[in-house]
Amino acid sequence: MAVAELPVTLDRNSPSSLAAQVAAQLRRAILEGTVGAPHHLPSSRRLAADLGVSRGVVVRAYEQLTGEGYLEGHGAAGTRVAVRADVRAPACATPPRPREEPSRPVIDLTPGRPSDAPFADRSWRTAWREALAEPGHIALPPALGTDRLRAAIAGHLATTRGLAVDAEDVVVTAGTSDALQLIVTALRARSPKPRVLVEDPGYPTARRVLTTAGAQVQTLPVGPDGLCAAQLTTVDPAPDAVLITPSHQYPLGGRMPVQERLALLEWAAEHQVLVLEDDYDSEFRHRRMPLPATASLPSQAEVALLGSFSKTLSPWLRCGYLVVSGAAGDLLKETRTGLDTPVCGVLQSALAHYIDDGGLARHTARARRAYAHRRALLLDRLADRPDLELDALEGGLHAVVRLPPPVDAEDLAAMALTHGVRIVPLAPYYAHRPPENGLVIGYGAPSDLQLTRALDILLHLIDTTVPPDGRDHT
Ligand SMILES: Cc1ncc(COP(=O)(O)O)c(C=O)c1O
Repeated sequence: MAVAELPVTLDRNSPSSLAAQVAAQLRRAILEGTVGAPHHLPSSRRLAADLGVSRGVVVRAYEQLTGEGYLEGHGAAGTRVAVRADVRAPACATPPRPREEPSRPVIDLTPGRPSDAPFADRSWRTAWREALAEPGHIALPPALGTDRLRAAIAGHLATTRGLAVDAEDVVVTAGTSDALQLIVTALRARSPKPRVLVEDPGYPTARRVLTTAGAQVQTLPVGPDGLCAAQLTTVDPAPDAVLITPSHQYPLGGRMPVQERLALLEWAAEHQVLVLEDDYDSEFRHRRMPLPATASLPSQAEVALLGSFSKTLSPWLRCGYLVVSGAAGDLLKETRTGLDTPVCGVLQSALAHYIDDGGLARHTARARRAYAHRRALLLDRLADRPDLELDALEGGLHAVVRLPPPVDAEDLAAMALTHGVRIVPLAPYYAHRPPENGLVIGYGAPSDLQLTRALDILLHLIDTTVPPDGRDHT
């Protein structure tokens, strides 16, 4: 019986093991009909010698394919292919596409990613050690959060936002998305499909979560200062809730003046609209002090403040909070208690230690300096480019760059990825309006060097679309 010649080549730099590579190529050869019954396979010793690998590599690959039914072991008579060369499943006629693996590391400028520095912080590790050393608990953590973390968050808000918060009004969440899901669940007790008004452009994740949780999402276009209160009266009937980012409109960066916030609160009180204030990055102001939270302004309206540790620490933690009082507070707390989906108890303990020991305040101050430095770097690198309009730089960890025609933001983002830079165009932030032609640059996670390199690549790509002498400098 003929011994098959096997088309196997090995890549020693591949993340797949050598045995997995041999098995995958042999499987493909059998499925393509290149190798089929009644072929005998070379002995494991011979194939191993041909490939320059240990015999165990080939034995493991043969065993794998025997288990899958492609091969049959015949003891001393060797191993045979169990599938006839002329029998091929139609679905397998096309060889599976090799998995695309980025050929080089990608510099990720996706917004919303902070630096990974907190994980290297000694106080963060100490906080976790202390949390783990606490007497073990065998019950569920409290649905609204541990008393200690709720009090720590109230203290944190007093120092960072000047808010006088009662710890009883704090609900610990698994981040903003979890808070939104909780809010929709609670509102559904009042109306089966609550209507939630959101900003356009706005946070796409919020739109998705609200819709998935059962809300009907309506949008209102934002102006340069965020949501314009006068437009709210055009929304008829009034929604059940309105989600705003008044301190740093996401993603365009507008800052809603106090006068506008007061007008919004008046409208919300009149129409019994629950105001959801997404205060996602107020800890990182680069120029002006943050305006007081809308939640702290005098009003009869019900306001829930949504906070998150995703930017101050990491989205990996899945932790945030809601601050809400009055009837809305009772409803949300009752719903959370009914759902009984508390945040991990050890995480809550560690976070409480970290906040109480001043670790979070120190980390935030350090991170603020690092982000301010990268923001300056971005400004500096783009200073001589009047063709590129920069925005949203007041605070946070991202900036918006508007691009000149004929550069197309989505084409540029696709091209940048092939050059090792991941960047997000503005388009997905828009729900119903024609999107602006721009990019959202997250500068929280990359190092200074990576950011400089990524900007060089982007500028080069822009210049190859618009030659420098073709730029409009008016
Ligand atoms: C506008 C906005 N709100 C809130 C968050 C935080 O969301 P979460 O706490 O679910 O991570 C982000 C994170 O990127 C955001 O961009």
